[in-house]
Amino acid sequence: MKHIDIKEVLTNKELIGQQVTVCGWVRTSRNSKNVAFVELNDGTSLKNIQIVIDKADDPDYKDIPRVGCSLKVTGALVEGRNATEINVTPADITLLGDCPQDYPLQKKGHTLEFLRTMPHLRGRTNTFNAVMRIRSVLAQAIHQYYQERNFVYVNTPLITGSDCEGAGEMFRVTTIGYSTEYKTEDDYDAADFFGRRAGLSVSGQLEGEMAATAMGKIYTFGPSFRAENSNTPKHLAEFWHVEPEIAFAELEDVIEVAEDMVKHVIGTVLEKCPDEIAFFDAHFEKGLKARLEELISHEFGRVTYTEAIELLKKSGEKFVYPVDWGCDLQTEHERYLSEKVFKKAVFVTDYPKDIKSFYMKQNPDGKTVAAVDLLVPGVGEIIGGSEREADYDKLIAAMKERNMNLDLYSDYLDLRKFGTVPHGGFGLGFERLIMYVTGVQNIRDVIMFPRTVGSIR
Ligand code: 4AD
Repeated sequence: MKHIDIKEVLTNKELIGQQVTVCGWVRTSRNSKNVAFVELNDGTSLKNIQIVIDKADDPDYKDIPRVGCSLKVTGALVEGRNATEINVTPADITLLGDCPQDYPLQKKGHTLEFLRTMPHLRGRTNTFNAVMRIRSVLAQAIHQYYQERNFVYVNTPLITGSDCEGAGEMFRVTTIGYSTEYKTEDDYDAADFFGRRAGLSVSGQLEGEMAATAMGKIYTFGPSFRAENSNTPKHLAEFWHVEPEIAFAELEDVIEVAEDMVKHVIGTVLEKCPDEIAFFDAHFEKGLKARLEELISHEFGRVTYTEAIELLKKSGEKFVYPVDWGCDLQTEHERYLSEKVFKKAVFVTDYPKDIKSFYMKQNPDGKTVAAVDLLVPGVGEIIGGSEREADYDKLIAAMKERNMNLDLYSDYLDLRKFGTVPHGGFGLGFERLIMYVTGVQNIRDVIMFPRTVGSIR
């Protein structure tokens, strides 16, 4: 269908005075005596093009396109008094798809909660368009960051036989026959297929370590699955996970890459998405642009877990979850540290070994591990990572303490037998990064089709 993107029509001044053809959905439509006005949007821009329909030859023209209709329009592009317009007569309009009057997306602003009830349509709003454009640019910037630095992009399996985090949050894989209907009587466990039980991967890290200890530097970028029964604004059952893994690296190297990457991708969004950032600045978080600019031009904060606990205890804040050395940091603690104490992104390092995963390098104090989380204002944790335990005996001991089945991890353990090296990496929750960059406060609103507890529409 020969036509021009509305973004191009609105920005390319050379098109003024020419005949152009555009397609789109009607955002608003208004009728008056001699003319009718239609605001058309094709999703390529947050701005609409105004179609001015001259009814002079056809004063009885009644078929003014309704909100939600899809149209193809050909006419002269002119600079109107207030906006760029396309001047047409009724004959220049082709109705591609009609739309009934009860179209749910009307001109008035809708709440994000209301829009969540229509995942198939909410992409047509400016809010979702802006989120998805930023999401797309961020994804490309992440690839660019790693590709330019000699990291190999690897794809780790989504079906796996071992639980990387050991937190018991894996979805189990079963077959449901060939029907899309869930038929309990036909189910059989994946064990019948693979020869052992399988689940959906919570993280590609273990396989990522195998790739990094072969290719040096790698990253993954794909979905991870968590059967966490957490109905919160920052948990998804299916989220997108960016996991770099670096051989010949210690915790400090991991932290350096994390800070540099976050700054690079946010800098790219500021450069490539000025309209979208201005939109969120105006409608979601005043000062968003300044906040992001500030973030990329200053060093992130640094604190150890032990210091963080002291800061939280001394704060005088009444937290819902009590703070004591050994407790896991909850979102309220993470946000207090990044919003009230540091007022910026902050790395927390050296967590107690008992609240972290088996694979993390044990510190000489015998109590903590070389772990790191990145906390940001408004969201809390967006990155979790560590230096990995490279010592075979120490790793085995940590796994035995957790009653893990060593047979399931024999390949992983081999890495510590055959030329072990210091190495480490981290996982970035892609949706949490998008929340931070846009100021959108619920993770369900930064992914097209969110999968959360109780919801799989
Ligand atoms: O801290 P996590 O659990 O770390 C790992 O999975 C490591 N294996 C990563 C690694 O070192 N390669 O998860 C990493 C990040 C979190 O900081 C968070 O941003 C995101 O993944 N995340 C979630 N995002 C949305 N919904 C969930 N349920 C999430 N669980 C983790």
